[in-house]
Amino acid sequence: MELFTTATKEHDELRQGEAYESAQNKAAFSKFFYVESYGCAMNFADSEVVASILEKNGYGSTRNLEIADLILINTCSIREKAELTVRKRLTEFRKYKQQKPGMLVGVLGCMAERLKSKLLEEEKLVDLVVGPDAYRTLPDLIIEAGTGQKAVNVLLSRDETYSDISPVRLDSNGISGFVSIMRGCNNMCSFCVVPFTRGRERSRDAFSIVAESKDLFDKGYKEVTLLGQNVDSYYWTNPETNTQVTFAQLLESVALISPLLRVRFSTSHPKDITDEVLFTMMKYPNICKYIHLPVQSGSTRVLQLMNRTYTREWYLAKVVRIRELMPECSISADIIAGFCTETEEDHQDTMSIMQLAQYDYAYMYFYSERPGTLAEKRYEDDVPLDVKKRRLQEIVDVQWHLSNDSNKKELGKSYEVLIEGNSKKSDLHWMGRTSQNKVVVFPKAGALKPLVKGDYVHILITDYTKGTLMGTIK
Ligand code: SAH
Ligand code: SF4
Ligand code: F3S
Repeated sequence: MELFTTATKEHDELRQGEAYESAQNKAAFSKFFYVESYGCAMNFADSEVVASILEKNGYGSTRNLEIADLILINTCSIREKAELTVRKRLTEFRKYKQQKPGMLVGVLGCMAERLKSKLLEEEKLVDLVVGPDAYRTLPDLIIEAGTGQKAVNVLLSRDETYSDISPVRLDSNGISGFVSIMRGCNNMCSFCVVPFTRGRERSRDAFSIVAESKDLFDKGYKEVTLLGQNVDSYYWTNPETNTQVTFAQLLESVALISPLLRVRFSTSHPKDITDEVLFTMMKYPNICKYIHLPVQSGSTRVLQLMNRTYTREWYLAKVVRIRELMPECSISADIIAGFCTETEEDHQDTMSIMQLAQYDYAYMYFYSERPGTLAEKRYEDDVPLDVKKRRLQEIVDVQWHLSNDSNKKELGKSYEVLIEGNSKKSDLHWMGRTSQNKVVVFPKAGALKPLVKGDYVHILITDYTKGTLMGTIK
């Protein structure tokens, strides 16, 4: 789930560790924490919950490791490479710890949950290990670790959603914000570690989601992304009225906050996305016409081993339905190359489903066996690494052409673009996105009135690359 990246990130991690700080006044704090996050958007959103908990306990955020009293690393376990990156980063923190006696280093997130206290034994530099459902206990754990004890809390919860905690926005562009709507996952995709690191699925109080989204809008944000591993299975029961809220209803409530607030969501599971959701998207122009619909494989046989619970045909029927109802909707996918037992024929099926679905964008990986998953227990990781890599490269090549064709089709069309800030390459250009989540870069000159980030502007598309559209103000 990863709709915020601007460039293709093929088989890389979703987002590499990013450190950030909030806009809070530094003078209010006597101690500082530094947090770096890896993995999916949900992890990044969790770091903002952690920041809120810590600020209430006297810790301000800093991007400067040298002044930090507490270094936190919010980790991802999705592929082996993600964990190796974190381990390397931990060794780099050593020098700061040596410089500043008393400084604590904590591991948060999925790797903390997966490895538990083993992390303290394996990584001598780690003082705290805190799983994704235990962040409320961080202040106590910090005190414990400060006295030299081993501070670990990796208890998973059936009901924790942090719904009452107002996240402290870290290093945000002030325009787009993430709002977690649920936690955990009940789908046992056989390759996936998430059900083990994040626990059972639970949906957050709908009122708190709408309130948080409205608060963002009131603060000048123009876009919220509703986050969950499987947003279509969002289902919240109001304990007072005993009425249920579905994802489509939630989406509508958030869209109704203001027509000027764009609403995105991620991730959709092909088995769960309903017509009700598609109709809601059609009804509200401010619900972005973009669906991230991970396919994983184009072979029904492999999909079955992956426990995805849909077939190639079912998936393609979903794509047809989306395109029939919303021809302008863009679709992206996640794809895994070289899952257990995958043959050349299965691989061809994956490449052909990509052609049939005409993805605008894709996140592509080769299979990385994860300890404890169903696949690790049941199947042999029998596709050799060089074959996995070759198949992945072929998949990347197919997507290169699809993304390129998708952008080529935009020439001569015009789109409403939400300005997110200066373009990376030049501050004479703005960068923004279309509803379809395509990045558009255009010269600032030519506007009838001065524009600022957060403005909507109509852009005529005049040029493109595989990753970016270029245009001019209409
Ligand atoms: N909840 C989302 C995905 C979360 S993980 C969904 O169901 O689609 C993001 C992506 O990482 C997955 O879609 C999958 O493509 C990839 N992934 C997960 N486990 C993996 C593994 N063991 N090896 C390689 N890629 C994996
Ligand atoms: Fe993992 Fe499947 Fe859940 Fe996605 S839906 S988080 S891939 S188990
Ligand atoms: Fe990674 Fe955990 Fe997200 S394993 S992808 S950070 S849920």
